[in-house]
Amino acid sequence: MAYLIGVDIGTSGTKTVLFDEIGNVIASATVEYPMYQPKNGYAEQNPADWYNASIETMRAVMAKSGVDKTQVKGIGLSGQMHGLVMLDKDYNVIRPSIIWCDQRTAAECDEITEKVGAQRLIEITANPALTGFTASKILWVRNNEPENYAKCRYILLPKDYVRFMLTGEIATEVSDASGMQLLDIPNRCWSDEVLSKLDIDKSMLGKVYESPEVTGQLTEKAAQLCGLEKGTIVVGGAGDNAAAAVGTGVVENGKAFTTIGTSGVVFAHTSDITIDLKGRVHTFCCAVPNCWHVMGVTQGAGLSLKWFRDNFCNAEKETAKYMGVDEYYLMDKQAENVPIGANRLLYLPYLMGERTPHLDPNARGMFFGLSAMHTKRDMLRAVMEGVAYSLRDCLEVCRQMNIDISDMMACGGGGASPLWRQMLADLYNCPVKTVASKEGPALGVAILASVGAKVYDSVPQACSAIIKTDKVQNPVETNSIEYEKYYKLYTEIYPAIKEQCAKLAQL
Ligand code: XUL
Repeated sequence: MAYLIGVDIGTSGTKTVLFDEIGNVIASATVEYPMYQPKNGYAEQNPADWYNASIETMRAVMAKSGVDKTQVKGIGLSGQMHGLVMLDKDYNVIRPSIIWCDQRTAAECDEITEKVGAQRLIEITANPALTGFTASKILWVRNNEPENYAKCRYILLPKDYVRFMLTGEIATEVSDASGMQLLDIPNRCWSDEVLSKLDIDKSMLGKVYESPEVTGQLTEKAAQLCGLEKGTIVVGGAGDNAAAAVGTGVVENGKAFTTIGTSGVVFAHTSDITIDLKGRVHTFCCAVPNCWHVMGVTQGAGLSLKWFRDNFCNAEKETAKYMGVDEYYLMDKQAENVPIGANRLLYLPYLMGERTPHLDPNARGMFFGLSAMHTKRDMLRAVMEGVAYSLRDCLEVCRQMNIDISDMMACGGGGASPLWRQMLADLYNCPVKTVASKEGPALGVAILASVGAKVYDSVPQACSAIIKTDKVQNPVETNSIEYEKYYKLYTEIYPAIKEQCAKLAQL
């Protein structure tokens, strides 16, 4: 039996899972680390924390499992996307990493749009200039910390820094590199045009691989620290969403997944590149060689429910503790007793601005239609429905781009709620399924490692051997008809208050 390791370098911590070749979890370990917010809108992390957590968790899974290290055939790395790691000529980290949710780079986004041209930028990088993406972070350092920029010789993404520490290779892979805004997405290589217009030296960037390709081997030092064999292969791996797609079997046309985590994502696989010229969804290279994915993001998904829980559900928290059940389970039960439409109450989940479809950092949340008859339960249901409507918005953009979505997986914390999954099935008008394994990104990159190690011939072949569907929820026609009326009204509310949201932001 071969064994594979998936390392998922997330924002709150790194989770490493050791799998056997058919995807069973043998051992797992997580180490958390802090995120620093030195100023409003800033978000930074220490790359050494990612590396130490990766080493520590790999050592822990090997020690716990008792698996012979020669049987571990490969390692895959998944990670939070977009973060900027800068190394000097001696490979030392120059400054803390500016990570994906940092919002300091609005001026640099304008600079990028002006230098590359709005239309050309979308044609090449498949996205408008976005504060989250890496290119604007590079320009910010050049504009604001010229002494640091002068020292910079290498630019890496978070998981690619860990790869460098494990193997000594300066490399990346197409799915994560897609989020740098420097990759030519249709041609899957660095864009000479964007790099030269932004005056960024290509030699600072790593070699670009496809996700299942072998990018290097564990050095003696790293192998010793991890309790693994020197020379164990490390494959390209993937950005967290592309990795989750592989881990849920979304690797063929027609397949898609919805995550309800802090933010919500609708991710659809496509073998033909398709770009939304309005930039409402991201088109990225996916982890299956020569395929792409389209991804819509709603910023305040699970966040909305957590916000509601933390501010209004103390009683439920207490009861849940007393009953020994999850507080979200109790909240689900309460919302289930409210009819579709929450007694004519709608919620807009724009607590953190919105990406898809509005691309508006000034968008803000709202309850629409509150009356004296409404109770907390109605508001709770409205929050869940509002998030489902915003996910439907993401799906609508994908459908407008003629992407076939007939098979939808649900994952993330919110995907565990049967009520939320039923809302999605009714609103998407297609079955919504879950997968038996809950290891999403870690399993996804372990699958990529299994292909790199030649345990399987291709990513779809490995997925069909490993991924098992669990629960399936089918749309209920009468529900869909009812939801449709509310969804239509939902789509009309934000355009009517967009101007007022902008005014509010100025106050
Ligand atoms: C993707 C995105 C997040 C980060 C952090 O565009 O911003 O998914 O990768 O998880």
